[in-house]
Amino acid sequence: MSKLMMNLQISSFEDYESAYNQSVTDPEGFWAEVAQNFQWRKPWKKTLEWDFTTATTKWFAGGKMNITENALDRHLATRGDQAAIIWESNDPNEESVTLTYKMLHQRVCQFANVLKKHGAKKGDRICIYMPMIPELAIAVLACARIGAIHSVVFGGFSAQSIADRINDAQCNIVITSDGSFRGNKEIGLKSTVDDALIQCPSVQKVIVSTRTRTPVSMLKGRDVWWENEVKTVSSDCPAEEMDAEDMLFILYTSGSTGKPKGVVHTCGGYMVYATYTFANVFQYQQGQVHFCTADIGWITGHSYIVYGPLCYGATSLMFEGVPTYPDAGRFWDVIDKHKVDILYTAPTAIRSLMGFGLDYVNGKDLSSLKVLGSVGEPINEEAWNWYNENIGKGKCPIVDTWWQTETGGILISPIAGVTKTKPAYATLPLPGVQPILVDEKGEEITGNGVSGNLCIKFPWPGIIRTTYGDHDRCIQTYFSTYKNLYFTGDGCMRDEDGYYRITGRVDDVINVSGHRIGTAEVENAINMHLGVVESAVVGYPHDIKGQGIYAYVICEKVQGDDSDLTRRDILATVTRVIGPIAKPDKIQFVSGLPKTRSGKIMRRILRKVAEGEINNLGDTSTLLDPAVVEEIKAGAL
Ligand code: PRX
Repeated sequence: MSKLMMNLQISSFEDYESAYNQSVTDPEGFWAEVAQNFQWRKPWKKTLEWDFTTATTKWFAGGKMNITENALDRHLATRGDQAAIIWESNDPNEESVTLTYKMLHQRVCQFANVLKKHGAKKGDRICIYMPMIPELAIAVLACARIGAIHSVVFGGFSAQSIADRINDAQCNIVITSDGSFRGNKEIGLKSTVDDALIQCPSVQKVIVSTRTRTPVSMLKGRDVWWENEVKTVSSDCPAEEMDAEDMLFILYTSGSTGKPKGVVHTCGGYMVYATYTFANVFQYQQGQVHFCTADIGWITGHSYIVYGPLCYGATSLMFEGVPTYPDAGRFWDVIDKHKVDILYTAPTAIRSLMGFGLDYVNGKDLSSLKVLGSVGEPINEEAWNWYNENIGKGKCPIVDTWWQTETGGILISPIAGVTKTKPAYATLPLPGVQPILVDEKGEEITGNGVSGNLCIKFPWPGIIRTTYGDHDRCIQTYFSTYKNLYFTGDGCMRDEDGYYRITGRVDDVINVSGHRIGTAEVENAINMHLGVVESAVVGYPHDIKGQGIYAYVICEKVQGDDSDLTRRDILATVTRVIGPIAKPDKIQFVSGLPKTRSGKIMRRILRKVAEGEINNLGDTSTLLDPAVVEEIKAGAL
């Protein structure tokens, strides 16, 4: 196999240890060396500048570059005819599409010119709301080409969520499609964008690509068709020169309070980090096919479908559909068809497919697989073992990768074939990552065989730079809980071997099927429903989704037969306000919520009831009205 042009890979545990030690004793030297593997128009002036008290991190500042020159142009001479993206349709009978590096480069440049034609400039914010089709990757890269900041919104979010995100970033262009195919469903996207735009005065242009041929309304002067526009421009588009610290993208994510915040990543550090972690964690070898099943609407898709693989010259498989369509063997069919080497998916998908039994796996040729990955939520041992035995056939290392939207790339994970794995453990920090466990007071918990809140004490190149338009929120959310530390919001244990195991969020964030949802957001949505007086939302263990959403709702009037209807109406409201992913799995109507005398809801009690532990509620003596608890216990679902 010919070598990749980059020299980034660790290939033994000794290598890992020495890289790790160097990255801690001389982080700047370590990352400067890694960054030399990329194409810079001008070298950086300062490798690192940082101060966690003001949430300031700058990597490679003064360095000039464009991430698309690294993801596309630099590969043209060496692998122009190699597949950059292989696209597999929702419909197994529709032909797949292969875009070589040459073709992808050409189409990105062409679409970048369409954006320019419609007035897009460096620094503009562009919202992308599309299905998993090649045009989505092209749109993302075209923004990066001209220095516009993309804000991809997952195709499952509601009009209201799109509007909130567009308004927060003041986007002037939206790129969308007529609709999307998901399993046997056809979902309108343009119509949802139309609903959103009623509230978005900043948007001047909407570019619509064709996918489903769903009838759409096209507003004269504002809306144009992608397919028509690309015919009017050239496919020559020099890349905009960007500073390493110029913004590359915004991606909204939920926290414990308020509306989702726009996590900002910048060009240079993000590129280096996404690529370095891609190359190492999965041990990608030239010519292999990497299949990350995430949607580009989430950070996993940004880093490990688009930027990491393409900057590394890899072949990235993009799948439009769902794991269970036309049947629960679809992933295995795709792997067989495209001879996939690396599969990167979420525990939810594994648990769900496990439930369908081995009939869907047996008889499928999975012999091309070399590495399996897991991401988004804790993977339980049973799912880990099933994945290992039935998909990896005991021969493929499983990399359980822990990271977050805010971290840009993987922070704690085995390196495939290098780090000894252990079911349900993310194992060890990657080079450049310095985890620390702290107690409630922020005191470091040292030694092994301990648990605490997971923080990171030194910046890595992919760390969040700010929350868009509100830097204070970034300081408050991540850098204020514990002095001089980045706080992840996760609980974690470190076992006797020094291996890390993430135990889940310690804040009011629920992780449903690997998707982050803030309890406050769901409560606000429920409270918008007619007749709802108050609500409280908690997570509870769910066999497939990891966590489910349990809502306690006080309604003005719910009686007998009406309660089912009211439940359905509340679900419809949540779907309209946020999207179907935030729909509660259980709604319990209550006449009151357990509150302290100062009016604070005691979520601990609600969580216990939701978990079914009604006989172990702890101290309830500080409650304003202990009788409420008895009613809640009696009505538990
Ligand atoms: O709680 C952790 C969980 O997902 C959260 C981050 O969510 P998000 O920003 O949407 O990014 C998901 C994809 C990177 C984390 O705070 N999480 C992510 N990966 C793991 C995980 N929990 C346990 N094990 C993991 N491998």
